Amino acid sequence: MKITIIGTGYVGLPTGAGLASLGHDVTCVDCVKDTIETLKAGKVTLYEKGLEELLTSGMTSGHLHFTCSIEKEVVRGAQVIIIAVGTPENLRTGEADLSYLFAAVEQVAKKLEGPAVVAIKSTVPVGTGDEVERFIRKTNPRVQAEIISLPEFLREGYAVHDFFHPKRIVVGTQSEKVRSLIREMYAPLSPAPKMLFVSRRSSELIKYASNAFLAMKIHYINEMADLCEAAGANIHEVSRGMGADTRIGSAFLQPGPGYGGSCFPKDTKALLHMARKHGINLSLVRSTILGNEERRKLMAIKILKSVEDIQRPRIAIWGLAFKEGTDDCRESPAIGIIQYIITHSAATVVAYDPKAMQNAHKLLGDSIKYASNKEAAAQGADMLVILTGWDDFISPDLKKLKMIMNTSRIMDLRFTMSLTGSSF
Ligand code: NAD
Ligand code: UGA
Repeated sequence: MKITIIGTGYVGLPTGAGLASLGHDVTCVDCVKDTIETLKAGKVTLYEKGLEELLTSGMTSGHLHFTCSIEKEVVRGAQVIIIAVGTPENLRTGEADLSYLFAAVEQVAKKLEGPAVVAIKSTVPVGTGDEVERFIRKTNPRVQAEIISLPEFLREGYAVHDFFHPKRIVVGTQSEKVRSLIREMYAPLSPAPKMLFVSRRSSELIKYASNAFLAMKIHYINEMADLCEAAGANIHEVSRGMGADTRIGSAFLQPGPGYGGSCFPKDTKALLHMARKHGINLSLVRSTILGNEERRKLMAIKILKSVEDIQRPRIAIWGLAFKEGTDDCRESPAIGIIQYIITHSAATVVAYDPKAMQNAHKLLGDSIKYASNKEAAAQGADMLVILTGWDDFISPDLKKLKMIMNTSRIMDLRFTMSLTGSSF
């Protein structure tokens, strides 16, 4: 099957490389020239486990191609055109910014000749498919395009795994012909994924409702963690006890410094905005957003309180990415916490992350120091704070840390080690 993917970010690239490995003829398009040049040279532009290998095999087999512009030959003959561009938060209103999506759609509409399926993989508000349909009809009345919703549920850090083992594939279209085509596109996946065929609007909403629910679960367990701490209970035991009930499920009950990433924060806000437009009050989602934002501040205050006896404390931070397994720092709790610390105290921050140093530098610049490894970060520190749950941070050599640090204070906000207190 001939497939074109627009946008080669955290979703588009693994999806493109994955579909190529299934034997499809895939062309990935991105408007950033450097990205395409790097990909053409066989190098990855973002960190995802297994992605480089997948990219190499796709290019070697001749199934995976890259280009910078949506030219006629890119869309001509493509049976499915997948749009995976960003839909970031509009910082003024909180709604999803659809400008990248419509820019891509416009380019496609202008170049499209024959019939094709345009699958919106970007996370978009309910009703966007209808808008895109109207827009294409207006831009190029001759073109026959079937607009479907094909939301993505992969997790960063597991993008390749999730492509091959999706928990479900949701397809929003009423057309039986298109359903067959999408079934065919994923047919080589083994075991066969669960496919859910629903209306376009339902599909758009399934995506937001799922993300917001998971975010809510995290916020809930974080509040429970606070209660456990105050009441002398152990949050891990509570979490285990809750998760043992399959109706609750054990996933997403890990407490921490709040959820981050490029999706939960923006998608919860976009959902709230969309509900408001429809006159619906999503009180749980609103509390989740507020509670999660507050949590970063509370964590930063907690850290500063632990070193308030030291005049100009040196704080070592392990972890900058929004979670382990990725170099992505978008909306990372670590970044928010560090920003709070450096603007509200005289502390010096020295940070280390195995993969996210470059991306963190783009956000924090030279406002903090960067260490070349975890020991170098901890050297001479008055306190060590673990903010991302990388494997490398699990069970650190405490004897060594005691020798190289100024004090014995550790705050492990990801519970990567069995320490429960803040000193050893
Ligand atoms: P991203 O920012 O990593 O990548 C988007 C890419 O699209 C960029 O490389 C950008 O240059 C490119 N682009 C933008 N406009 C373009 C245009 N007109 N033509 C060609 N390329 C263009 O974004 P992402 O994280 O991959 O997310 C993409 C979408 O998928 C978003 O809607 C997001 O909410 C959703 N999503 C993301 C994840 C995730 O884990 N990151 C998971 C599920 C869904
Ligand atoms: C999330 C969803 O899990 C994906 O299904 C979805 O496709 C994606 O958003 C998206 O729409 O972009 P992702 O953001 O990659 O994936 O990461 P998660 O593993 O969900 O973690 C999100 C945040 O929650 C991280 O900061 C993580 O540390 C935090 N988290 C997660 C917790 O604090 N506790 C948990 O128990 C789980």
